Amino acid sequence: MERDRWATKIGLILALAGNAVGLGNFLRFPVQAAGNGGGAFMIPYFISLLLLGIPLMWTELSMGRFGGQYGHGTMPGIFTLLWRHPAAKYLGVIGLFLPITVFIYYVCVESWTLGFSFFSLAGKYRGAVTQESMGAFLHGYQGIEHNAYFAGRGWMYGFFVVTCLVNYLVLRKGISGGIERLANIGMPLLIVMAIVLVVRVLTLGTPDPAYPDRSVSNGLGFIWNPNLAMLRSPRVWLAAAGQIFFTLSVAFGAVQAYASYLRRDDDVALSGIATASTNEFCEVICGGSIAIPIACAFFGIAATQAIAQGGPFNLGFQTMPIVFQHLPAGNVFGAMWFGLLFIAGITSSVALTLPAISFFIDELGWTRKRAVNVISLFTFGAANLVVFFLAHGFMDELDFWAGTFGVVLLGLIEIVVFFWIFGSNRAWEEITRGAHIKVPRAYRFIMKYVTPLFLVTILAAWIKTDIRRVFTMEGASPESRPYMWGARILMLGIITGFTALVAVAARRGSFAKKRENL
Ligand code: ALA
Repeated sequence: MERDRWATKIGLILALAGNAVGLGNFLRFPVQAAGNGGGAFMIPYFISLLLLGIPLMWTELSMGRFGGQYGHGTMPGIFTLLWRHPAAKYLGVIGLFLPITVFIYYVCVESWTLGFSFFSLAGKYRGAVTQESMGAFLHGYQGIEHNAYFAGRGWMYGFFVVTCLVNYLVLRKGISGGIERLANIGMPLLIVMAIVLVVRVLTLGTPDPAYPDRSVSNGLGFIWNPNLAMLRSPRVWLAAAGQIFFTLSVAFGAVQAYASYLRRDDDVALSGIATASTNEFCEVICGGSIAIPIACAFFGIAATQAIAQGGPFNLGFQTMPIVFQHLPAGNVFGAMWFGLLFIAGITSSVALTLPAISFFIDELGWTRKRAVNVISLFTFGAANLVVFFLAHGFMDELDFWAGTFGVVLLGLIEIVVFFWIFGSNRAWEEITRGAHIKVPRAYRFIMKYVTPLFLVTILAAWIKTDIRRVFTMEGASPESRPYMWGARILMLGIITGFTALVAVAARRGSFAKKRENL
């Protein structure tokens, strides 16, 4: 069966950028930067971009394009092509487990942004102008407490269903008709909205003359002045590397699936750089100039720091709506902020479901319609658990194992398989074939030695500092523990399910048949 294809080059770049630019750029990045040394954070951040992000982006694009030539868009099939070992296909299960697990909680947050965009326009939170009242609004919406704003989860559930449905409809339309079309419309819109918001923030000056130290420039100073002492902390390096993985969506299995719809000689080198550059523009320039500076201008640096420490959701969903209520046409700016987050979210979430869908189509011979129906139903059911158990750490548990630890693990495995097992000569040939730019030769050395070493160091540091704490659920309340175990059982179930499906595909000869053509 002829594989689906991207219709245009620009469509592919926008789709890849849409996959990368997400909630991480506008919610996660400013909080990470502010909490980890401000400008000093950018040093490990850019080092991680150069030594991890770009190498992995090129690796995944090349692997995906290579796999696509033999009818494989996902890691079990791609690893089988690269490594003639019976275990290779099972190792690839990680590349199916990670994106679907991240999707299960990502889609929930994405649905909140849709809800808040509507509430902003409708004026539903008008008058909630303190952190306490807006916090109550957010918690009421999330169903964490019943209060004067929300008596139940009805609103939240409604927006959750609509968000799942929109994801479903895009995926049903396939690669060029669904994902590419969404990116062609969504990405330019997102960038325009981001620029409008940045201009609005940068022209705010000092909103309240009674507090001359509360200004946008002080806010920018807070986020960008380097606190170099922080560079000695391994935590800062881990945070920077983690942010690069999350923001570029590398080691999520999604870039490979997108690239598998390329042709043999299509460029991957320039596409990778274009994707990373668009993402960094949206993250560093736009993401860094909206939430933190505006919060500093209205509440001062100390209060913003406390808010940021409370987590990315407090800043984005609690503080930003308060700030917008102080501005003329604030409801429009509020709707724009949440609308921007929604577009950023959906162009990433469709990418997170694609690997599982491609797996069913490529390896089990399902039709797109059937694969999309089954995956959408499954993820909808699983995401319900996040919706209802949000207060009990269900989301955080999935985020740690899949979104933080798992991605570094897959990043390490794939670079070792590509450069050490498949071989650096063939890997380099894959990366540079059809390239519209000259890939610096230093990258051959970096990808073979530096990137894997960097990844091993990060994993070792994580295992040393975090694994025991997370594994034993240190600090979790006794009521939350059963739910956190529930999250682990769900993850184990996903891994077991995909392992069994890979075994079924192997029995049917799906991997062996295609490899014969190599
Ligand atoms: N790369 C996506 C984001 O930044 C997952 O949200």
